[in-house]
Amino acid sequence: MRICFIGLGHLNSAILAGLLAGGYDRENITATTQSQTSASQRSTEFGIEVLSTQAQLAANAQAVADADIVVLGVKPPHIVETARSIADALPKHATVVSVAAGITLANLTAALPEKQPVIRTMPNVALTVGKGVVAMARGATVTADQMENVDKVFAGSGTVIHVEEDQLNAVTAIAGSGPGYVFRFANALAQAGTALGLESATAQELARLTLVGAGTMLETPGADPTALEDSIATPGGVTEAALQSLDAAGFDQLVVDAVKANVARSEELGA
Ligand SMILES: NC(=O)c1ccc[n+]([C@@H]2O[C@H](COP(=O)([O-])OP(=O)(O)OC[C@H]3O[C@@H](n4cnc5c(N)ncnc54)[C@H](OP(=O)(O)O)[C@@H]3O)[C@@H](O)[C@H]2O)c1
Repeated sequence: MRICFIGLGHLNSAILAGLLAGGYDRENITATTQSQTSASQRSTEFGIEVLSTQAQLAANAQAVADADIVVLGVKPPHIVETARSIADALPKHATVVSVAAGITLANLTAALPEKQPVIRTMPNVALTVGKGVVAMARGATVTADQMENVDKVFAGSGTVIHVEEDQLNAVTAIAGSGPGYVFRFANALAQAGTALGLESATAQELARLTLVGAGTMLETPGADPTALEDSIATPGGVTEAALQSLDAAGFDQLVVDAVKANVARSEELGA
């Protein structure tokens, strides 16, 4: 199966790194970037052929010509024009996968030949460390086999979840933006430590490693956050006192409100 990455920035590089770590044959991967400098750097880094649109205007069309899967990883404002630019060169069966935030299946299918299989994904940034979550919504003409093949492309960088397109804004609000909420919490915890008299660097290290450790506990199959919370919150103890303070401040409702604000913003942006 030949895979073509259009754009090889943060996100597509992370997906590619996951594929290569799983032993995927480099001969079956092609990529493009805009600048020649990037193309040379990425080619050396990953040991694959990388064309640049700066050096060859038709680089994208050339790169997709024998592809089975094309992963569009350019910035959202350029996705539709990039899809249009490869439309005539795409093999009929090639599945076009978009990782762009906010670009709908309708936007994509309108830019591509009729019946071209299209998948819209919502990946999160943790893909860059091989622990991402990727939600996928498939277009009307995508077969089960094509879906399975695209699942495999992401298997090395994250966990794939299939959803309907109308659920993608909710997915974005939880998993797409989720790392941002966790980073904010890490910062707040560190600041609380500093306020208690710890050295700033020590407080940051404590907060960071605590989140990593707790995250690893949550990674255990079947892990239940409520049961884990109960296991350390002894009645009358110090953890319980802190959790009661969070409850009194309406912590859970604050999270619900934040997630709703995220969805409202997605809707304003027309996603
Ligand atoms: N980063 C994330 O955490 C994240 C999370 C979820 C979704 N996404 C989505 O992923 C997509 C890419 O984001 P990113 O952060 O990876 O962006 P990025 O690092 O800026 O990478 C964009 C890549 O596209 C290349 N490019 C630009 N125009 C091109 C063209 N006409 N033809 C071929 N390649 C072209 C750039 O080339 P140069 O290297 O020459 O500049 C670069 O390699 C976006 O649509 C974004 O919504 C990103």
